[in-house]
Amino acid sequence: MLSSSGTLSERFADRYAVVLAQLEPGAPPEAVDSARATVADNPGGAAALLAGMPHPTANDHRSGSAPTVVGADPVQDLVASCPDVTGFVTGRPRLEQTNVPIHPGRQAHLVRVAGHDLVALRWPADTVAARSRHQSRMAPVLSAASRAAPLSIKAHDEYAVVDVPGGDPWVFAPHLGLTLEDRLRSRDLDGAERAALVMSLAALRAAMIDHGVVWQGFAPRNMFLRNDQIVLIDFEETVDARHDPVRAAECLLWHRVFFADCLTAEENARLFTLVDGEPDVPDGHPMPADDFERALLGVTTVTWRQRREQLEASVALEGRHTRPAPDRDGGVLYGHELGHFWGDFVPVELEARLFRHLTAVTDSAQLVACLEAFEAAMEADICRSLRHRASSTHDMSAIRTAALVEVLDAIGTERLAAHRMQTAHWYQRLTTDPVHLVDELLHAAGTAIGGLDRELLDTYLVGSGAARKTHAESLAAATRIGLDFIHRPDHGEPYLRYRPPADLMALLDRPLPSEGADLDTVLAELEAEIARYSVSQSHPRYLAFPDSGNAIAAMAGGLLGRLLNQNLIAVDRSAPAATFVEIQVIEWLRDLVGYEAAPLTSLRGVKDVAGLWATGGHLSNHLAMLVALSRRFPQVRRQGLPGVGIRPTVVMAGPIAHYSHSDAAFHLGLGWDSIVSVGARSGYTTDPAAVEAALTDPPAGTTPFMVVGVAGNCRTTGLDDLATLAAICRRHGVWFHVDACHGGSLIFSERLRQRHLAGIEQADSVSLDPHKGLFTPYPSSYVLFRERGVLTQFSRHETAVLADDCWDLGLITPFLGSRGFESLATWMLLRHVGVRRLGDLVESRQAHVRYLERRIDEAGLFVSLNDVDFYRLAFVLCPPAVRQAIRELAPERRRHAAHVVSRYTSRLNTMLYQSGEACFDEHTLADLADRVGAGTDVSYTIMAACPGNPLITQADLDDAADLLARTAKPLVPAMLAAITGAEPTGGDGRGTVTGPAGWSDAP
Ligand SMILES: Cc1ncc(COP(=O)(O)O)c(C=O)c1O
Repeated sequence: MLSSSGTLSERFADRYAVVLAQLEPGAPPEAVDSARATVADNPGGAAALLAGMPHPTANDHRSGSAPTVVGADPVQDLVASCPDVTGFVTGRPRLEQTNVPIHPGRQAHLVRVAGHDLVALRWPADTVAARSRHQSRMAPVLSAASRAAPLSIKAHDEYAVVDVPGGDPWVFAPHLGLTLEDRLRSRDLDGAERAALVMSLAALRAAMIDHGVVWQGFAPRNMFLRNDQIVLIDFEETVDARHDPVRAAECLLWHRVFFADCLTAEENARLFTLVDGEPDVPDGHPMPADDFERALLGVTTVTWRQRREQLEASVALEGRHTRPAPDRDGGVLYGHELGHFWGDFVPVELEARLFRHLTAVTDSAQLVACLEAFEAAMEADICRSLRHRASSTHDMSAIRTAALVEVLDAIGTERLAAHRMQTAHWYQRLTTDPVHLVDELLHAAGTAIGGLDRELLDTYLVGSGAARKTHAESLAAATRIGLDFIHRPDHGEPYLRYRPPADLMALLDRPLPSEGADLDTVLAELEAEIARYSVSQSHPRYLAFPDSGNAIAAMAGGLLGRLLNQNLIAVDRSAPAATFVEIQVIEWLRDLVGYEAAPLTSLRGVKDVAGLWATGGHLSNHLAMLVALSRRFPQVRRQGLPGVGIRPTVVMAGPIAHYSHSDAAFHLGLGWDSIVSVGARSGYTTDPAAVEAALTDPPAGTTPFMVVGVAGNCRTTGLDDLATLAAICRRHGVWFHVDACHGGSLIFSERLRQRHLAGIEQADSVSLDPHKGLFTPYPSSYVLFRERGVLTQFSRHETAVLADDCWDLGLITPFLGSRGFESLATWMLLRHVGVRRLGDLVESRQAHVRYLERRIDEAGLFVSLNDVDFYRLAFVLCPPAVRQAIRELAPERRRHAAHVVSRYTSRLNTMLYQSGEACFDEHTLADLADRVGAGTDVSYTIMAACPGNPLITQADLDDAADLLARTAKPLVPAMLAAITGAEPTGGDGRGTVTGPAGWSDAP
């Protein structure tokens, strides 16, 4: 049957074969086999098969009233013998009337009825009458044109309309073969035939204008040449030019679009020569914009001129649809009616974007290459729709055409054209596998947006084998910079090259880098400007904090955590192994604290996990308060604090507690006022008696729900009597949290644990910071909970979180969602160093601080405010003469003297700090034991020594102590004068808040 239409289906046969292959994975084998068999000898039949009719029984037209027929005999016969006309028609091959692939949405089939080849089309029911009206209106025009033309012209009038109950009618007509569009393109007509054709069409055009009846469908795809007669189809619309000159003028312009790509320039000029009486519309004539114009121009009204220009642009574009391969498809691209044809495939906004791009192209080869890309995308989308139809899903979306518009937007026509030209075997693959062809093009163009190519990708991203060596070198260079930084002391370099903040800001202030620099440059910059001015916390002269972060295993774990880049929010697809590494670390720490600990394999799920990683002690303390609050007042989970009714309070020793607890009270909505601050004992520890009193007799309307004890406070690292506090809390039914951010490191030495942390295992929660006491780089903190199961309340997915084998830590982790594999550092530290040696390292620090304590004492210039019990000494510059002078002062002058002490202590500390030679911490501290002699209620700005790095030597400490004394001595006379002289009372204008430890626990 299809052989009558020449070579039309050869290309499509392959195409459908491809579709079939795609269908295969999910298709029932019988469907594939029958499709294959059909495609082998009848490509059109395969199309029909794929179009969804392998089961013609599935139709709803069989029931109800029988179809009625108006017209030709064979069709009468058909209707008489086949009550299910729709089933019959859709079971026939799809009509492939032109080289342009039909849109799968169009319902046109080839049927053979009683030996006649017919075309069956579906017309909307409400247009049938109008079509015949329009056709008869054209009759005089056609007669006039036939008289004036070498060829006669007639409307195709052999229609049989079959009304189908419950659907649009089917229209049957004899099959007329190839359209004029294809015949003009394929140049199968000789010169004389073409000339006669063009003359005849020109006559038809002139007759339309003369009669004032303009047929909108004057398009070569609606025309056939049969027996030297031009046969016209599709009279959907005719326009009365006198009545509606604007629409008539518009249709006349559309005709140019329709013919633009199948006539030569000469033929075009001849056909569209100006005819007297063509409607003349004033440029400014307004009209409602159609959807395309709205999208293209962003207006609701257009002028005639705008519409005309837009159509003229289409004509120009259409006229350039010539392939570089003239022997293919008649040399013409089959994406005709550009800017409107594509509207069948993509939403009008995309179509407008495409039109804008293509009309701006001036280079013909570039335009054609882009058009070819879109032609292929459409072809691929048709394949996709057919494949969907084969499984009865009517999905007409054109994902590839739409994606190509997006890519075009991103890379522009020139680069899209280049990608098309670089794609090998284009025409062959267009025929055999348009889907993969387009996907390859889209992928290549889509990944190259912005000009990215493999080399650039390798420059920025790790992962390709080719670049591995370079990347390894870069990482080695980065490591070398880091190690040089840590090894400053080897070269006698200071722990800091001090620059005032303003200088550093000026140095580091850079415009947003819109273009990057090569990594070597960035590394050099980092070394020269960032590392150079950074403080080295592991330097032996750095005596301010214990956060040395210099354990090799912890560093390696930190680096590897970055390289492995696991997300500990969940197990599957995120952190399958890392989750258990973290849980293991938590169990190990639980064991060391003295909590019940279990082998990993005995845990059932996150419901058994009773510890969390956190960014620091600050967050750990927040988490502990949140758990305590919601354990005591479960209603806060749903109702928030209003549901509690009374004011929940937290009891702690304000003078020594870390500010994170009052921060947490604010951040959790309790407010600072919910902190009940009790006093501290002179050794800078929480006073259990004061806690007992606060719990026994809380202010009316308040309910203490938590007590914070401290194991190593931030100012002197004093260690509370945890066992006593735990017993008090137990008696009062109040949550006991131990802030062991510093003291937690003592759990590694059984001896120190016994001595300083007795009772810690009775706490309900404990926070501890490997990034403080355990030589681990930031960030690393853990909060542990005595009782398992307290964390499940944080998940809204109760069933999931309580299920066995649910291991998603994100379900039980407040505040944090995605987070990295930070626990690897601690895991590696513990695996590498082991508990015993970690204990040794921790303990060695005590020798350093005690040595320093003695050396500072020996200097005779300082007063220590605490006796070292852990690893921190707080002292002020206060030589005996000054102390003596203070004692002799009248009580009202002592405060002034205390300010002087603070001022000179701070001055001394600043001099040392900025010299880069020795670093002590600085903050305020009340002199609870009145060692200076100005009263226990007086606070000083103090210096604090906290040597954290076990690598520090005795000589280093001697040097630091000597320097301290050397620098302090010259300050003493002025200091004395300031105390005894007539300096005004009051402060020196400097605030007393000097660093984290002085940021006060409660405002
Ligand atoms: C006792 C105590 N708790 C909590 C913190 C807060 O820890 P981070 O700064 O790691 O958040 C500190 C910090 O110094 C501290 O000393």
